[in-house]
Amino acid sequence: MTRSLRLLISAGPTREPLDPVRFISNYSTGTMGACLAREALRRGHRVTLVSGPSELVPPRGARVIRVERARQMQRALRREMPRADALIMAAAVSDFEPVRASTQKLPRGGTLRLALRATPDIVGSLPRRRGQLVVGFALESAGGVRRATQKLKAKRLDVVVGQRMNGASPFGSARVNAFLVDANGGVRRLGTVSKPRLARVLLDELEQLWYGGVRLKEEGCSTC
Ligand code: C5P
Repeated sequence: MTRSLRLLISAGPTREPLDPVRFISNYSTGTMGACLAREALRRGHRVTLVSGPSELVPPRGARVIRVERARQMQRALRREMPRADALIMAAAVSDFEPVRASTQKLPRGGTLRLALRATPDIVGSLPRRRGQLVVGFALESAGGVRRATQKLKAKRLDVVVGQRMNGASPFGSARVNAFLVDANGGVRRLGTVSKPRLARVLLDELEQLWYGGVRLKEEGCSTC
């Protein structure tokens, strides 16, 4: 007997303000998170999408929580995590934030020195319930599998989706060069795939991990 999953999906970039009218961010469009949400809904799962700024219309049926900053995304995910069976952390969280945001618009002229600090590691710091599945993404220019595996361990992930950067940014592009690493160190190279296809492969993997475990427990497996 299986039930639909309660999936928490983060998507899009975050924006870290410099002053009331400027921010630092990245080129993420939220496409990967939207593809994942759409595919999950198509399979009958329940989806909460925690999205940074994105022009995309979220798939119908998703519960959407909009955030701007990494710290807001962290708060929203902390709040939602206890109700989730799985988190897919597809957001391109800004790695840095200004140490201080000016309350006034910064005047042009002269030299502006910015002090930045790392944003909190959201996925690595979320409280977890036993059995919850957590998927992260890793965008790498070099040392792809090794670095993705390090992230999987450091962030206590069940699966990491690696994407190779071959010069061009995968943000907003229709196809990506991707591979999956699982918690046993298994690597599955997918080559260049469309984002909807990557979403299907990842949800297959997640369902396999979730329902596989449930079935084994229901059958009373003594080694589980
Ligand atoms: O270390 P890196 O940023 O490549 O890790 C990527 C994974 O960690 C992604 O799943 C991303 O959403 C997540 N992340 C996070 N908090 C940050 C930066 C990245 O949860 N501050």
